[in-house]
Amino acid sequence: MKREEFIKSLGLGVAMVCTGACMSACGSKGDTGTPNPNPSPNPGGGGSNGNTVSVSISGKLANVGDQTRANGVLFFRIATGNTPSSFVATEALCPHQGGNLNWLNNQNKVQCDLHQSEYTSAGAVTQGPQNTAGSTRALKIYSTAITGDTITATVS
Ligand code: FES
Repeated sequence: MKREEFIKSLGLGVAMVCTGACMSACGSKGDTGTPNPNPSPNPGGGGSNGNTVSVSISGKLANVGDQTRANGVLFFRIATGNTPSSFVATEALCPHQGGNLNWLNNQNKVQCDLHQSEYTSAGAVTQGPQNTAGSTRALKIYSTAITGDTITATVS
């Protein structure tokens, strides 16, 4: 075999291997080529299905003042009873610069741990960022529904 023929055959062989690998990967069982309209970005954490985020009430929100985060949503309990009005679901990160938001139950407010902006449980701003530039906005409050032990927020 001449050198030129060898190189050509090598190139064809590599192309066949690459094509085979790609076809194998793309043709895996169950892959229809259609994107999943409801991907779960964090299957190990709080449940998420598209624009909804769910958490267990008994596991994380059993008592008044309890709070938990899942998939960008901060849930907190403001009253007894397992009805939607007993809970608030809002953004987990501050609109100012992304600090963590926390529910301070004994002070009845949400506070940012980065520049201490404060919000009511309904999301209204009561104090803007401290010792820094910029402003914040009202928090988004997500609607919630309860099924059994699960509270689900619809993120919009
Ligand atoms: S990031 Fe929350 S007040 Fe600045």
